[in-house]
This record gives sequence, structure tokens and C-alpha cells, in this order.
Amino acid sequence: MADAKPIISLDGVTVRFGNQVAVNDMAFAVKNEEVVAVLGQTGAGKSTVLNLILGQIKATTGTVVVDGCDPYANYYALRGKVAVSFQTDRLLPWRTARENVELGLEILGRPEKTRRSLAAEWLNRLKLSAAHHDKYPQQLSGGMRQRVSLARALVIDPDLILLDESFSQLDHVTSKALRTDFLSLVKGLRKTCVLVTHRIDDALEMADRIVVLAVPGEIKLELALSDATRNDPAWLSSATKQISAVMTAHSGEDVPKAADAV
Ligand SMILES: Nc1ncnc2c1ncn2[C@@H]1O[C@H](COP(=O)(O)OP(=O)(O)OP(=O)(O)O)[C@@H](O)[C@H]1O
Ligand SMILES: [Mg+2]
Repeated sequence: MADAKPIISLDGVTVRFGNQVAVNDMAFAVKNEEVVAVLGQTGAGKSTVLNLILGQIKATTGTVVVDGCDPYANYYALRGKVAVSFQTDRLLPWRTARENVELGLEILGRPEKTRRSLAAEWLNRLKLSAAHHDKYPQQLSGGMRQRVSLARALVIDPDLILLDESFSQLDHVTSKALRTDFLSLVKGLRKTCVLVTHRIDDALEMADRIVVLAVPGEIKLELALSDATRNDPAWLSSATKQISAVMTAHSGEDVPKAADAV
């Protein structure tokens, strides 16, 4: 993918479901190799933004460009380039961990030998030990299942990874370990990632940039992060306050603007 242009670009995008505005006149861009967290209260439009990028819904107005094309009109062109993982692992219960990871490769028509070795490799990279590779999802813990789900997303070697609350259902310790392992893979492989979350701490820990949405699907705050900001308690405290203000504000209430960002 070209480095000069953003890999994702939304311009003047509005999505309406009947009278309901889910996303309102949004401009949003993501550069190659960026990890962007999309935060917001329930109903703020986070999943709608991911569905637009995935090409699963069409913008009512405005343009969406992913890797140079309209993802809704060119759904199959992006197959294999974009991977997604959700809050629930969505594993097939009749397939083992390894067979679940092989699924995306099957759809892409990869030969069986390649599928088997890549699936094992990615399960290992996600730190699921070989003893668990031939177990069924119901024999694995929630954290292990989410490791399988992330291995299934990464095994196809996508350019872009989209996560919708992938760590939210796990306990704090399990979630932290998985976030650390996942982020180290994403950064090491120089992938681009958009992660939707309602957990401020997760976003502050993982993202290069945080975008905060509020009902009705509007960007109210953007913050750029670096190693310096992550190690600065005063910055983190101020950022947390600003994000919380947006996330708890009722629609129409005054909230901090992007220009006020720390
Ligand atoms: N398919 C749909 N049909 C009708 N309304 C929808 C549809 N999808 C989303 N909406 C509405 O659009 C708004 C934004 O929804 P969205 O699912 O994007 O929010 P969200 O930020 O992901 O919320 P949550 O944190 O609860 O997952 C909500 O008011 C929701 O009810
Ligand atoms: Mg959602």
C-alpha cells in the first residue's frame, strides 16, 4: 500500500438508519501503521464507523475510501487485506482452535499444508500453546478463545486490522496480557489498526491516536499519543478527564473541542 495517502479516509460521511443519525458529517483518516482507538459512549457510532470501513454498510452521504477504493462497492477487492475481530470470539464450535484459524485461509484458497503450518505458527505467536491447538472452543478459556480469534484475524496477513471491543469481555489481567501481546505483534509487523473500545485505559495504553465520538456520531476530541505522553502522569490525567467529559456528556451539552486537546 502507498505510504503517502491514508489507508482509510472518511470525508463528509453521514449514516442514517431511518430517522436515526448514527454518524454525522464525519471526516476521519488513518495513516499506514497507525494504531487508532475510537472511543465513545454506547450509541456514539463506533461500530457504524467500523462497518463503513469493512464495506458492510453504505454511507448515506459522503465518501469512504479504504486502500484506494470504496469498500462497499469493492467488497471482494479488499478480501484478505482487512481483518476484523469482535467482542465475542465468534469461533465455530465444531472446529478446533487450529481449524478456526485455518478458516480465513480456506476462504482465500490456500493449500491445506500451508494452512496447517500458518495456523500453528499464528496460534504460537498469540501464545496459545500447542497442547491447545486441537481443542474445541468450549474446552478453552475466554482469554484463549480470544487469542484464537486474533490469530484467525492475523493469519491472513492483512494490511488493516479492525477490532470492535475485542478485549472488553475479559478480566483485567487476561485483557492486559492479550493487549500487550497483540500490540507487540501489530507494531512489529507494522500493521495498521483501528480499535473500538469504551475503556479509556485501553486506548491510552495502545493507541498512537485517540478519537472520541459522541452521539450523534460526531468526533468531539482527538489526542495524539507518544512514549513521552504515556510516561507523563499529568498528561494522562488531563487526557482521561477530557475523554471522560466527552463520554459522559449528554447530547447537546458543552464538551471539549479537539483544539483544546492536551
Ligand atoms: N442497523 C441499524 N439499524 C438501525 N439503527 C442502527 C443500526 N446500527 C446502528 N444503529 C443506531 O446507530 C447509532 C450508533 O450505533 P453504533 O452501533 O454504531 O454505536 P456504538 O458506538 O458502536 O455503540 P455500542 O458501544 O453500544 O456498541 C445507535 O443509535 C444505534 O441504535
Ligand atoms: Mg458497537
